[in-house]
Amino acid sequence: MGYPMRLIVGLSGASGIIYGIRMLEVLRDLGIESDLVMTDMAGKLVEIETSWKEEEVIRLATRCHDCFDFTSPLASGGYRNLGMVVLPCSMKTVAGIACGFADNLLLRAADCTLKERRPLVLVPRETPLNAIQLRNMLTLAEAGVTILPAAPGFYHRPENIGDLVDHIVGKTLDVFGIEHHLYTRWKEGASS
Ligand SMILES: Cc1cc2nc3c(=O)[nH]c(=O)nc-3n(C[C@H](O)[C@H](O)[C@H](O)COP(=O)(O)O)c2cc1C
Repeated sequence: MGYPMRLIVGLSGASGIIYGIRMLEVLRDLGIESDLVMTDMAGKLVEIETSWKEEEVIRLATRCHDCFDFTSPLASGGYRNLGMVVLPCSMKTVAGIACGFADNLLLRAADCTLKERRPLVLVPRETPLNAIQLRNMLTLAEAGVTILPAAPGFYHRPENIGDLVDHIVGKTLDVFGIEHHLYTRWKEGASS
């Protein structure tokens, strides 16, 4: 028996909240369930950076969990899922996961994902990076986390912001082997 086709989607308060919104849209369209957990600052970034309302973002998800409800199923490693993505991922959330300081549900869900050895993908957004932030990301990478910076490529000739966003969302889905057509792969299928 396989695991249910559902992903935990964490949205934290880094710039680039549109990445998380787009991920929820794509999962919905692919028929993959999403368990959303948003930090307070993620909610604020939705209002600051986009024309979405927080309630509209919540409605994109299959289920939304209160970020301080530790009685949520996400607080248990027994909750079956494909893994977890955090996009965008703030440096504060990177630090929390790196040192196991699970004082909100997003951090606890990431902790559980790691201890159950399920895939965990973080899409950090910060620049420039200081030594502490780089060390935290190295700690996470050594623990098996995929660090997938919000740094879209340009070789697929993006024409608008949506194309840039889709590149990162697509690369994130690639980690889980989820089929999609969000970006054109470099020379895949070419004979030379
Ligand atoms: C407009 C705005 C943009 C921000 N952008 C970033 C960012 O790109 N990266 C980051 O690490 N923090 C950023 N922050 C700061 C985080 O929101 C802050 O550190 C917060 O504590 C993160 O908490 P959370 O991880 O629980 O959401 C931003 C804050 C604001 C108001």
